[in-house]
Amino acid sequence: MKNVQVNLDKYSYQVIIEKGILSQVGTLTSEIIKPGKAVVITDTTVGPLYAKIVLDSLSKTNFDVKLVSIEPGEDKKSLSMAGYLYEALFDHKVDRKSTIFALGGGVIGDLTGFVAATFMRGVPFVQIPTTLLSQVDSSVGGKVAVNHPRGKNMIGCFYQPKAVFIDTDTLKTLPKEEMVAGMVEVIKYGVIKDAEFFAYLEKHISQILELDDTALREIVYNSCRNKAKIVEIDEKEEGIRAILNYGHTIGHALETLTSYKKYRHGEAVAIGMIYATKIALSMELANEIVLERQETLLKRLGLSLSDNTVNPHDIVRTLYQDKKTVGGKLRFVLPTAVGTVIISDKSDDATILKSLTSDSISRHL
Ligand code: NAD
Ligand code: GLY
Repeated sequence: MKNVQVNLDKYSYQVIIEKGILSQVGTLTSEIIKPGKAVVITDTTVGPLYAKIVLDSLSKTNFDVKLVSIEPGEDKKSLSMAGYLYEALFDHKVDRKSTIFALGGGVIGDLTGFVAATFMRGVPFVQIPTTLLSQVDSSVGGKVAVNHPRGKNMIGCFYQPKAVFIDTDTLKTLPKEEMVAGMVEVIKYGVIKDAEFFAYLEKHISQILELDDTALREIVYNSCRNKAKIVEIDEKEEGIRAILNYGHTIGHALETLTSYKKYRHGEAVAIGMIYATKIALSMELANEIVLERQETLLKRLGLSLSDNTVNPHDIVRTLYQDKKTVGGKLRFVLPTAVGTVIISDKSDDATILKSLTSDSISRHL
């Protein structure tokens, strides 16, 4: 069992990473929450695979548990779906002493967390993430939200779970593309904070792609460890937490301009990481090695590292509309070495455009 403690005073919790942990969810939860009413929220893909084992485990430890299953999909992260779930909670007579479990990927985690945060002004909730992205990113740190027609994750808050139980075995049923998209966030931790971890990824990428148990545990553990350290310093993203957005600024613009249809989030972030690095190279903040090492690793995942369908001028225009813009200035997370980044608002439009239009930065130096 590998544990990561997230230290947030009275809102502290543990992330427990263990192959096969789903059958222990009841016992582990009863150690921190008195058994009572419980609702497990999942989707119709994850439910048939993993709900029974979780429900059995909770029933055995005296939780009076009900399952609510919704269709999968980003469009389910909505206020209307939150409304549907509130009804289900009322029907099961959930009160503020009950527990809500999110069993699924980031969509289920964000939606369930939002419902838990707002139902009766807050009900305890537990994350049981089943995609790589949700295991290494969205289940840790307390960002919960639903989408609004005017933007993704626009309605939400910070609401920490009581615990996160990660069963790396669930990754064995995950489609390859979802695994690859999650790997981008894993690589991100290496670039922004942990050179040793980046080197581990370079060395073990084959084992990771073969879903080797030890390699999976290592990547999930080290990702959660790195994320926890950042969240502990800056829970509400007033400063350093923004480094978690490495690659996301341009990635987000690409997702917006392709109407969220062309790229999975991780695929867009991978391109965003490469463009951000090219900006850093143009500004002479980093050297070619930083670019090459990321390109090599991301290519091993079979990812495309540039976009030639979206007009670079449209990307820059979209960047200025992003909610992360501060005082009208674009802010980028830029690598200065593998393992270190800075937050900079010093990139001018010409430099950004140059990076967006270059296949290789070396041609432009
Ligand atoms: P997802 O939740 O849509 O899951 C992807 C697909 O995989 C779904 O169809 C799901 O049913 C299926 N699935 C899940 N687990 C499976 C398993 N073990 N086996 C087989 N299929 C499985 O996608 P995601 O990438 O996990 O999450 C994306 C969401 O996460 C977005 O809404 C994004 O905004 C959010 N997010 C939130 C944070 C945060 O800090 N809260 C961070 C990053 C992303
Ligand atoms: N996924 C970015 C964050 O949690 O801050």
